[in-house]
Amino acid sequence: MDQCFELALQIMDRLRAAITVVDETHGFKYFDERDLLGFVDGTENPTGRAVTEAAIIGSEDPDFSGGSYVIVQKYLHDLPKWNAVPVEQQEGIIGRKKLSDIEIEDSKKQPFAHNVLNVIQDENGNQLDILRDNMPFGDVGKGEFGTYFIGYARSPSRTERMLQNMFAGNPPGNYDRILDFSRAVTGTLFFVPTASFLDDVTPVTSAPPPSVMDTPTPAVDGLATKGRTSLGIGSLKDED
Ligand code: HEM
Repeated sequence: MDQCFELALQIMDRLRAAITVVDETHGFKYFDERDLLGFVDGTENPTGRAVTEAAIIGSEDPDFSGGSYVIVQKYLHDLPKWNAVPVEQQEGIIGRKKLSDIEIEDSKKQPFAHNVLNVIQDENGNQLDILRDNMPFGDVGKGEFGTYFIGYARSPSRTERMLQNMFAGNPPGNYDRILDFSRAVTGTLFFVPTASFLDDVTPVTSAPPPSVMDTPTPAVDGLATKGRTSLGIGSLKDED
């Protein structure tokens, strides 16, 4: 917590004049790596070399190799509603046992289970993983409880396919029942460059840096003039 706080402080000291903070959420680790729904979260994450395969851009995109794409979403849970659901039904929604974290047998899983909708394959039947680093957060006094979803992938299309399955359903209508108790209130896709990528960035010296007061929102070349507010990355792009 201290290091994250200090890092945020250092970054903000440099960016304060140029940005507006719209949300600040401090996550924490909960018992046994559980989320606030009470389930262990992160069990099926890839480990070792499989992490690289899941999360790090490789030779398929040489200019950006070594980087990653991270999609984050802030989910708020209706915890009283969730806690009123019998544990066995909750287990059907997640696809794992709540106390033991043991996976429910494939033949007994609900078609809408979270771990059915989020297991995706390529055209050759190979499973396409992402690396998740979800953080619980909350404010007991305000009755606010949530999960900050953080998913790294070598291509945003993996995570977007999972989101498609969760929200629209697979097949359509067979949506993720977590969403009956949780809603995403923010969501963003970031490109995560390598340190060497950042070292190689050539500062633009031809024009003076725009003054904060003069800069239209967003401060990205071309976007504001076209009346667009998106960087146009992935399917979160703001297409004309
Ligand atoms: C309210 C938000 C969410 C909660 C509380 C949540 C919770 C969980 C839990 C408890 C598991 C089972 C344990 C594990 O393997 O980690 C799980 C698995 C998983 N979740 Fe989520 N999740 C959320 C959102 C998402 C989103 C938005 C995605 C992707 C876009 C996602 C992708 C996955 C994947 C890929 C797995 C592993 C499936 C497997 O291989 O068995 N989750 N999640």
